[in-house]
Amino acid sequence: MPGTVVIGAQFGDEGKGKITDFLAEKADYVVRFGGGNNAGHTVVVEGKQFKLHLLPSGVVHGKRCLIGAGVVVDPRTLMEELAALEREGIQADLGIDPRAHIILPYHNLLDAAGEEGNHHEKIGTTKKGIGPCYADKALRQGIRFEDLIEPNRLKEKLARNYPIKKKVLEQIYGIRVPFTEESLFKEYAAVGEKLRAYNVDVSLETCTALDQGKKVLFEGAQGTFLDNDFGTYPFVTSSHPISSGAAVGVGIPTGKIGKVVGIVKAYTTRVGEGPFPTELRDAFGEALRKKGNEFGTTTGRPRRVGWLDLPMLRTAQRLNGFTELAVMKLDVLAGLDELKVCTHYLVNGKEICFFPYSTKGVELAQPQYKAFKGFKDLNPKAKKLAQLPKEARTYLKFVEKEVGARISIVSIGPGREETVQA
Ligand code: IMP
Repeated sequence: MPGTVVIGAQFGDEGKGKITDFLAEKADYVVRFGGGNNAGHTVVVEGKQFKLHLLPSGVVHGKRCLIGAGVVVDPRTLMEELAALEREGIQADLGIDPRAHIILPYHNLLDAAGEEGNHHEKIGTTKKGIGPCYADKALRQGIRFEDLIEPNRLKEKLARNYPIKKKVLEQIYGIRVPFTEESLFKEYAAVGEKLRAYNVDVSLETCTALDQGKKVLFEGAQGTFLDNDFGTYPFVTSSHPISSGAAVGVGIPTGKIGKVVGIVKAYTTRVGEGPFPTELRDAFGEALRKKGNEFGTTTGRPRRVGWLDLPMLRTAQRLNGFTELAVMKLDVLAGLDELKVCTHYLVNGKEICFFPYSTKGVELAQPQYKAFKGFKDLNPKAKKLAQLPKEARTYLKFVEKEVGARISIVSIGPGREETVQA
């Protein structure tokens, strides 16, 4: 049975967590394929809150959870999350691919140094060491999970990496490195010892599960426009949060992905720097941020907010092949007299219906809007589309037609019961 992948259609924080949890309950496996602890969401089970950044969200439902080769693993975060679960009596059923790369404290320092100094353009990263870790991977200098769990390999890899990182941090960035090669080895060899039992070929296990007809959910992190190639480079993350990223990040053929659920916030938000054509920089934007509680889960930073952007969503549809959409936070738009949707851009006087493919194009893009009549408060008990106000349905129908994928879920509140299914 082909697997299902959940993908953020915008800049991340679309509300993937709620839908992932919703789908995770029915899945046998939940698999992460990219990113690391730059992601984050809160899972509430029987009144208990779990904040997860790295572990797949299915872990609290007792599902088999896998971390694929494309993920970057911060062992400190992983240990903290496992310990928090254990305190609640949950033993994670976890597998980690030996090929996954490891984030070490020098990656965090390099990430922060790159952001704080004026050596590079500021990206507004989460400072979790994601970029420097993926950079080591691309340079073929990284330390992988297979090294972490083998003390001799770890020692050898640290001996190659540590002196270079220390030199760069101290001599280029002027930062004192508060740990030694020996202290790193001691801490991480002990962690590796504890994590060794989780070592598993995630590619093989996932393929076998799919062949046996098991339900596999691939949990996306971040969003389409943060993709390292197709996002708003350089204001992107260092992985591939698009649907094909699941195949590369786990090690499965693309044909084994069946459903692609695109998660779309009913408006747009972005955390961090970078272009945002429909951004609202006024008091109305501020009010929308407050109403939607738009503050980052991982860093607490206020998110920038703007109207829904159809050129973005059409492009996301092309990049991901959504088989269905989930529209999130529709309730945040309730009570407005008028809603706007960006239908296309003008770039040098020319009408553009997709997200510009070049940085220069994005800089020149002037969003053009269509206004819709607003809708009053939504019935929090609505379960079917027909129970939503006519104006809300008109807005949703328009989005569905323009993006070219069926809206199967509309979220009208944070609670699981505040979900409308079509
Ligand atoms: P990094 O992934 O920490 O390197 O950050 C690169 C960019 O991606 C920054 O603009 C971050 O704010 C953004 N980013 C990374 N992870 C997430 C996420 O889970 N949600 C939203 N934005 C994210």
